[in-house]
Amino acid sequence: MAAIVTADGLRKSFGRRGSTSPPVLDGLDLELEEGAVLALLGPNGAGKTTTVRILSTLLQPDAGRATVAGFDVVRDARRVRETISLTGQQVAIDDKQSGAENLTMMGRLAHLPRRVVRDRVAELLDAFDLADAASRRVAAYSGGMRRRLDLAAGLLTRPRVMFLDEPTTGLDPRSRQAMWDVVRGVVADGTSVLLTTQYLEEADRLAQRVALVDGGRVVADGTPAQLKHEVGEAGVELTFASPSDAGRVAPALTAATVDGLRVRVPTDGSVAHVRSVLSAVEATGVAPEHWEVRAPSLDDVFLALTGHVGQERTAGATGVAA
Ligand SMILES: Nc1ncnc2c1ncn2[C@@H]1O[C@H](COP(=O)(O)OP(=O)(O)O)[C@@H](O)[C@H]1O
Ligand SMILES: [Mg+2]
Repeated sequence: MAAIVTADGLRKSFGRRGSTSPPVLDGLDLELEEGAVLALLGPNGAGKTTTVRILSTLLQPDAGRATVAGFDVVRDARRVRETISLTGQQVAIDDKQSGAENLTMMGRLAHLPRRVVRDRVAELLDAFDLADAASRRVAAYSGGMRRRLDLAAGLLTRPRVMFLDEPTTGLDPRSRQAMWDVVRGVVADGTSVLLTTQYLEEADRLAQRVALVDGGRVVADGTPAQLKHEVGEAGVELTFASPSDAGRVAPALTAATVDGLRVRVPTDGSVAHVRSVLSAVEATGVAPEHWEVRAPSLDDVFLALTGHVGQERTAGATGVAA
């Protein structure tokens, strides 16, 4: 299958010339197949937004090459911009107009037929729980409502390639679900999507391939099933009153890892397996203070695939927030 987005050895530093600040992108490669969804999964500061900004022509790489639909993101920037949409930019939303008016205007500016605009605006307002507020001025929207309107605006058109930069960070569960549904619809219409996220679950729900990004490069990639297979579907997590309690119980459990008060045992989540873990705990005579079955976190993914926890990078001397 043909790749519609490629990146090859992207490098980017923000430090002044001659400074020693580490590169934000350190030779990043990726490939998105036409019609598919690729998730860039990584912690804060991994370089996800920088990658998306380069791919969407907002920023130039120091080295390396990237293409969208065969166009070079530096040399053919205009052609690339005609091919893509990017959400999360808070573009051109007019506070004095209502949510519906904003979306309608953007649809017209994108040269969509009137009927398509009408249908899609209604559909998006509904999907993002803004139907009741549709005719209210955006100035009166809450922060969450504005964010949902911003996402809806990015989903009006059906470009060949869509970049979604952490589309559900900070959204409530219901809006997150709506976002996922809308993305699936967009993909069904033939759009290829490059998505960044901090949530393994989101990558799993939406993407055919996941690239794990850390320190400005892809440190592992594969299908969600491959990642989950390596990480384990979920874990039984037990919290004890003291590290010594945790240390006494762990040897009784297959594949358990101990972290202070906490013991984690990988599980397929089945009743039979969870029950066997709990029985083994009970047999030790040490009662946990708390236990739960938890989906793998981003930390678990990094630990399983790279042997270390993803590095959250803080802003350097130039101090620009992500
Ligand atoms: N314009 C900039 N100037 C200086 N540093 C930047 C700039 N943009 C991003 N950074 C730094 O680059 C690193 C990666 O940022 P970013 O690509 O936003 O990561 P992510 O989106 O994965 O959280 C962070 O350490 C961030 O502080
Ligand atoms: Mg970011």
